[in-house]
Amino acid sequence: MLKTGLVMRFTTAITLLFASSLFTASALADLPPGPGHDETAKVCGKCHSPEQAVSLHQSKTGWEETVSKMVNLGSEGTDEEYEAILKYLTTNFGPEAPKPINVNTATGVELEAGLGLSRAESAAVIQYRTDKGAFKVIDDLKNVPGLDFKKVEAKKARLAF
Ligand code: HEC
Repeated sequence: MLKTGLVMRFTTAITLLFASSLFTASALADLPPGPGHDETAKVCGKCHSPEQAVSLHQSKTGWEETVSKMVNLGSEGTDEEYEAILKYLTTNFGPEAPKPINVNTATGVELEAGLGLSRAESAAVIQYRTDKGAFKVIDDLKNVPGLDFKKVEAKKARLAF
């Protein structure tokens, strides 16, 4: 009993550590080099870290809104600087590409949301890979009972094995 408790506490600590380092990594992205880097670091690093300034991934319109919000908050720079900053932000921090779905490790929720499967279908996928082992190619999914293969095929660009 004691041993299980310790192991559990250890696992929780590791999970927390892992989660917090993940959070830091995604919240504080580095500023990649390139045109507009220096203007962004200078103008956008005055009130918060420049890393916080690039903590979003969004479209050009989204960045335009963020930058005018910052100007309203008191951000100061020349028109040339803001133009360079906007280009830099949209080039390096555009909308995030949808992540691939690994059909061998994805959770039920990820299968449902990512591939448009019903709850029963995603459960069948998980049951199948648990019983028979990893899927190796897309056609392996044809063998999953109750799964509408057309749904999977429609998303084949996002599938990973
Ligand atoms: C005058 C100070 C100031 C400057 C300069 C500044 N910011 Fe901000 N920024 C803030 C404040 C204050 C917040 C928090 C706003 C809030 O919580 O609503 C913030 C928050 C943010 C956020 C978090 C998301 C959000 O919308 O709240 C992003 C992204 C951001 N800034 C980007 C930038 C960029 C890009 C620049 C350079 C163009 C910049 N900031 C320059 C004051 C500034």
